[in-house]
Amino acid sequence: MNWQSDLNSIETSFAPTLERWYERHKRDLPWRHTRDPYRIWLSEIILQQTRVAQGKPYYERFVAAYPTISEMARTDERDLLRLWQGLGYYSRARNLHQTARYVTTQLDGKFPDTYHELLKMKGIGSYTAAAIASFAFGERVPVVDGNVYRVLARVFGIEEDITSTQAKKTFAALAMKLIQSANDPATYNQAIMEFGAIQCTPMSPDCLLCPLQQQCVAYLTGRQNKLPVKSKKAPVRERFFNYFIFRNNGKIALRERMTRDIWQNLYDFYLLESERSDSLSGTSNELQTALSATSVQESLHEVVRERVLAVPPTEAVQLLSHQRIRAQFYIIDLPDHLAGSLPIDLQWYTPDETEHLPKPVLITNYLDKLFG
Ligand code: ADE
Ligand code: SF4
Repeated sequence: MNWQSDLNSIETSFAPTLERWYERHKRDLPWRHTRDPYRIWLSEIILQQTRVAQGKPYYERFVAAYPTISEMARTDERDLLRLWQGLGYYSRARNLHQTARYVTTQLDGKFPDTYHELLKMKGIGSYTAAAIASFAFGERVPVVDGNVYRVLARVFGIEEDITSTQAKKTFAALAMKLIQSANDPATYNQAIMEFGAIQCTPMSPDCLLCPLQQQCVAYLTGRQNKLPVKSKKAPVRERFFNYFIFRNNGKIALRERMTRDIWQNLYDFYLLESERSDSLSGTSNELQTALSATSVQESLHEVVRERVLAVPPTEAVQLLSHQRIRAQFYIIDLPDHLAGSLPIDLQWYTPDETEHLPKPVLITNYLDKLFG
């Protein structure tokens, strides 16, 4: 056999080998018992940036709350975000809701059933479209995500930087070729995901018990830890949030975040962002400006100066994918005569009402300590 036919035989045996491996090793996961495109879509959106162990209970709660797409479409975005709370990347939840409404109202409740139609939906990219098209409808389109890059880069010894556009084309073309030999596209796609998740893992692939061992370029050349090649991530941006928690008569003041920033449509407190963390002095000018719009807010400034600077703030940190949020929380007990005129976007909520608002984890944790 020359090298070309050798490579061809590796390419044609790859999918059936993974399918056989999958039948023996697959985990029993709830979304693997359905062909309902709505539930498959939901599971794949949840699993996009979330581990299976963390995502599973969310999937189960979502299916219980919204057994069908029309029930999801009917819900308030706020309730859906509340159920999503803790998963992060909240645009996933907003897109979920918008697409549920779109399918229900514009497509008569019928979920798109081809890869190309699925791609047109908000929040459905090529990975998710391929997952739904294959798992629900049996279409022969390959899923390509980080798991797949890793497995293919190792088995086929691909050295291209997986963040480059060229590499994405290389992997997509190879994946398309490989799925042609699959007995069943749905099984094969589940198989390669599962293989990446539990066999060919990022840090410690189990090469000794791997069915691809004798064909795997990375194994044969001892480069498992060098592949895939990935250029450095963007540095993490540091941000300093000064939160003011206005309290009065057992209620606290929150507002919905409306700007195109992190946590859009989630609720938090009155916020002044500053360049540095040690900076109530740094923010105090800003604070004055912010609070001086009305006479009530001028008085707020008095309150702030007296109460806040005396009381040490609570601190917390939340790490997002590209940002580190360092927060300081200042409690301000407002006297009754000021409680009626909060800065515009704030509203009073009881602890119970607060509980039902969608909030960033940073805020939830803080409130748990405050009330708990
Ligand atoms: N991660 C993304 N999709 C998955 C699936 N269908 N099963 C297990 N893990 C996954
Ligand atoms: Fe992954 Fe190792 Fe198997 Fe190669 S031999 S596919 S690196 S687990």
